[in-house]
Amino acid sequence: MTDASLTIDPAFSIGTVDPRLFGSFVEHLGRCVYTGIYEPGHPAADESGLRRDVLDLVRELGVTVVRYPGGNFVSGYRWEDGVGPDRPVRLDPAWKSIETNEFGLGEFMTWARAAGVAPMMAVNLGTRGVQEACDLLEYANHPSGTTLSDLRVKHGAAEPYDIRMWCLGNEMDGPWQTGHKTAREYGRLAAETARAMRMIDPGLELVACGSSNAEMPTFGTWEATVLEEAYDQVDYVSLHSYYEPKDGDVTAFLASGAAMEAYIEDTIATCDHVRAKLRRSKRVNLSFDEWNVWYLSRFQNDPPTEWAHAPRLLEDHYNVMDAVVVGSLLIALLRHADRVRMACQAQLVNVIAPIVAQPGGPAWRQTIFHPFSQAARYGRGEVLRVEPVSPAAGEVPALHATAVRGEDGTVTLFAVNRSRSDALDLAADARALGDVRVLESWVLTDSDLDARNSATDPDRVRPRTAASTLEDGVLRAVLPPVSWSVIRLG
Ligand code: AHR
Repeated sequence: MTDASLTIDPAFSIGTVDPRLFGSFVEHLGRCVYTGIYEPGHPAADESGLRRDVLDLVRELGVTVVRYPGGNFVSGYRWEDGVGPDRPVRLDPAWKSIETNEFGLGEFMTWARAAGVAPMMAVNLGTRGVQEACDLLEYANHPSGTTLSDLRVKHGAAEPYDIRMWCLGNEMDGPWQTGHKTAREYGRLAAETARAMRMIDPGLELVACGSSNAEMPTFGTWEATVLEEAYDQVDYVSLHSYYEPKDGDVTAFLASGAAMEAYIEDTIATCDHVRAKLRRSKRVNLSFDEWNVWYLSRFQNDPPTEWAHAPRLLEDHYNVMDAVVVGSLLIALLRHADRVRMACQAQLVNVIAPIVAQPGGPAWRQTIFHPFSQAARYGRGEVLRVEPVSPAAGEVPALHATAVRGEDGTVTLFAVNRSRSDALDLAADARALGDVRVLESWVLTDSDLDARNSATDPDRVRPRTAASTLEDGVLRAVLPPVSWSVIRLG
């Protein structure tokens, strides 16, 4: 056991958390939509084919925003295929899949309302452009009286969908993308699309594509060039990042939260550099609209070879260590909540997801469900700056932590111990909080770091009540090796 410490003081405020930090992502990919959120004929499906058991879990997860319909999928997507009575069957080159288009915008909006989430729509700037983005916006948001808006009414949606958040394409720096572009080409297209969309609906929030991840060779220059072209037209630049134990390096994997923080800080620096160069007062904020643990190398070693509808793709089965890393990624996002205003865990169901749904069978929570749901529930309010002091775990401190003060005055400490060998004996100075006590305390860990949940043992891994004490203003807790802890004070 080694010592660790930090101070919780409401005077050190980072900023207020935007609830949209707890977003998720539904892509037409594998079984996320088909046999995920949508499965007509399933015993739990409603009259629209939406799985009620999955909806219950989505609500429990605490998701606020859901990005749709991709992802790589959107860069070859024709939105018109997914509305009205005639649904063409198409090839989806992004995932070598057959898209029936049975599920489209209207179905998604029905699902989003049932789930209680706000939609974040992505437009295709890969194989399509300004006109198609404007057509989709007019169809979705214009009340009525034009051909496109009346078409939506005819399709059964009398009221406009009123979609506020829009992504201007997806990962346009990625050569794997249909319609991949240079930064200059994309920046101009994003600016033109944004300008045209705002002429139709001025109240939109628009996200420009940043780099596909921090390892892209153009990371930094891509953001700078895109923002030189589109700074005045956009509100956010996107970040995407997935983490896995590369070459079996588990210590580096456990440090993923630190890598995410460095990526965020570098992106903020680029945004603010362009702001200074252009002499603008407006700040461009960050939308971390794809993040998660993803065993990407498994997919790369075994890509799909046959065209199929709703194939089993990217169905990662998460263990305890993955959940702890997800907890650390959530801490990283919260620690930068002043600039990261929106974030989407990718994805929601079946595909690298916190929720698993079997075709015709049950749905359950993966290990990574738990840190997300706890952060989404208790990570609301004002983030307090905490600077943990602890021994190292590889290249980073073992302790990764943040604290959030809710509107009701309660304070929640989120803490991850990244050490694989040592428990941390945490002493947190909470004197500045006044007369508070420990309300609740949980830990997610296991002697078997490879333990997972399954259909037969769906609650094998979950947060369990832990012992924490608060005496003379000092909170004490033992954080086991590779663990995620949540301690509420009030
Ligand atoms: O979430 C899986 C894929 O990862 C998305 O389609 C793409 O945007 C990213 O590369």
